[in-house]
Amino acid sequence: MLKAKLGRIQLKTPLVLASGILGTNAQIMKRCIDNGAGAVTLKSIGPIERNGHNNPTVLAFDSGLINAVGLPTPGYLNMDEEWEEINRIIKEPIIASVYGSSVEEYCRIIKYISKFNPSIIELNVSCPNKKAGMAFGKNAELVSELIREVKKCTKLPIMPKLTPNCDNISEIAKACEKAGADMIAAINTAGPGMIIDIETRKPLLKYKTGGISGPAIKPIAIRCVYEIYESVKIPILGIGGISNGRDAIEMLMAGASAVGIGSAVYYDNIEVFNKINREIEEWLKNNKIKSIKDIIGAAR
Ligand SMILES: Cc1cc2nc3c(=O)[nH]c(=O)nc-3n(C[C@H](O)[C@H](O)[C@H](O)COP(=O)(O)O)c2cc1C
Repeated sequence: MLKAKLGRIQLKTPLVLASGILGTNAQIMKRCIDNGAGAVTLKSIGPIERNGHNNPTVLAFDSGLINAVGLPTPGYLNMDEEWEEINRIIKEPIIASVYGSSVEEYCRIIKYISKFNPSIIELNVSCPNKKAGMAFGKNAELVSELIREVKKCTKLPIMPKLTPNCDNISEIAKACEKAGADMIAAINTAGPGMIIDIETRKPLLKYKTGGISGPAIKPIAIRCVYEIYESVKIPILGIGGISNGRDAIEMLMAGASAVGIGSAVYYDNIEVFNKINREIEEWLKNNKIKSIKDIIGAAR
């Protein structure tokens, strides 16, 4: 009943761990799969080792999280052992997320990591905490050029991850499809936002501003996925503020073929996947719906 498909990729459940939430550790990725994730996305991998921004980098507020982790990465050349362990213990689909600051950088990383054969390569063109990559996600021409070049570097499916912080997400999505993207992930964090501590009268994040995620951005994510679904034929991984079965169903009805889970892991831990799966299943049964695919895009 919970089986789903993202393009040609079969998923045992529609839930996908979103990038950056639990790093890249093979054991932790496997725990997500064992607890009901249909696929896992690794933390975005960049060109060289980087620590990211100084603490504090992640804070909770009433209706979500604000983060400025700043894309810490071991660098693509320092992950061979992790990849081998991932491929040894995980049989479900792995999504590798990649960021760079130029087309050449994306291509170099993608060529290298393709040998580890992840199921999908996600292009992070949408991180608000680092200038690198962000420009691509806001500009249809730049993102088209990136996708066309990246497609020459690998046979693996390419999935750009779009930002809600753009003028017209439909236009960006159409450009991605035309340039050869196999699927689209949406959305990355919204904002940037800021939290000020009124006692110290200072922004709480060391970096001052950060991307917003969690329940606060769900309506933005739903709107983005709905508009993308109206504009393109390629499948969508819908991400943003999903924390229970009803949210996930809403995202599927907006047009997502599978649903990313990010901040909800902070609130409910890795068991959140099983919890959401149970809630989806119960809703499907109560509504006499046999399969996830029967509700994809139902809101259109
Ligand atoms: C602490 C943190 C780190 C993140 N790191 C990444 C990242 O490395 N690459 C990326 O594409 N998205 C990253 N994201 C964005 C998430 O993958 C997701 O798109 C976003 O949080 C919205 O989903 P959510 O509301 O379910 O968290 C990060 C989000 C958080 C909260």
